[in-house]
Amino acid sequence: MEFVPGDNAPLKVVVWLGNSVTIIDQTRLPHQEVYLEISDYRDMVSAIKDLKVRGAPAIGIAAGYGVALGAINIKTGSREDFLNELEAVITDIASSRPTARNLFWAVERMRRVAAAGESVEQIKETLISEAEKIQTEESEASTKLSNYGAELIPDNAVVLTHCNAGVLATAAAYGTALGAIFKASELGKNIQVLATETRPLLQGARLTVWELMKARIPATVITDSMAGHFLNRGNIGCVIVGADRIASNGDTANKIGTYTLAVLAKENEVPFYVVAPTTTVDLSLASGEDIPIEERDPAEVTHLQGIPIAPEGCQALNPAFDVTPHKYISAIVTDKGIISEPYGEGLRGMV
Ligand code: MRU
Repeated sequence: MEFVPGDNAPLKVVVWLGNSVTIIDQTRLPHQEVYLEISDYRDMVSAIKDLKVRGAPAIGIAAGYGVALGAINIKTGSREDFLNELEAVITDIASSRPTARNLFWAVERMRRVAAAGESVEQIKETLISEAEKIQTEESEASTKLSNYGAELIPDNAVVLTHCNAGVLATAAAYGTALGAIFKASELGKNIQVLATETRPLLQGARLTVWELMKARIPATVITDSMAGHFLNRGNIGCVIVGADRIASNGDTANKIGTYTLAVLAKENEVPFYVVAPTTTVDLSLASGEDIPIEERDPAEVTHLQGIPIAPEGCQALNPAFDVTPHKYISAIVTDKGIISEPYGEGLRGMV
């Protein structure tokens, strides 16, 4: 299957089918393109937990459809009972992963729409259209922020990125950090990408390099621990990453290892850019210290795709995200534009 940035239709990252949702199982990529059809919201909760669908904006979209699926399968005709049952669905979906702001933003929006509805049937219909609206709006945001992000990428640059912030992570036409790269390439800029493999689950090696190769953008995978070496050798134009949650002072949670890259970028005077939709911004949090960090199964560290790589029974830690303090971030790019310090003011103006 082929896809080009700007047309993600063949990829079916998250697609509403009327009574069910199809997703591409991202845990099977790049070697197998397997599509799953989900009609029970509990399977959507598992798909989010297991990273079959992943990346902050895609998680938000999947969560919206998850609420719609839960709603259409509720049997009662009583509005009050319906809303109580729906609340249990929403709580379940909201507990799937703790860090991505987009998940909570999406379920909150779905909850508000449900509360405003008059009858069960009408609420079911509005929930479906609201979930579709979330996807449309996120897709438009992805295109806008990719255009802004492309401005920051110099011609003839080597760009370093981490994790996967592309079409797969956004269920949109471009992506966020990778979207900026796709757009810059569309503009005719000559770009080469260094993609960190992104231990432990290898989103960089498996997904980012796969997307870049499909888009025919030169991509080279490196291990996470090689990043300092390449940043120090002076041939990297910028580091560009996505975000899972941005606090009101600009502190940003993203895939574990992002903080290390930001410090190394500053030390080596390489610009470090964060690209995300405004739906990732959480103005209720004063700083990154308040961002909940997901702790995942230590087996993801001690095993590589099921194969043990450490002594049996050894201890391991597995925080899925880290927080980059705003002082290391050269600019934050959203669908509303590009801002730099002071981030508090800029973010409040945008959201
Ligand atoms: O654990 P994941 O794969 O969901 O983590 C994804 C990331 O950290 C991405 O960089 C982030 O969600 C931005 S995606 C546009």
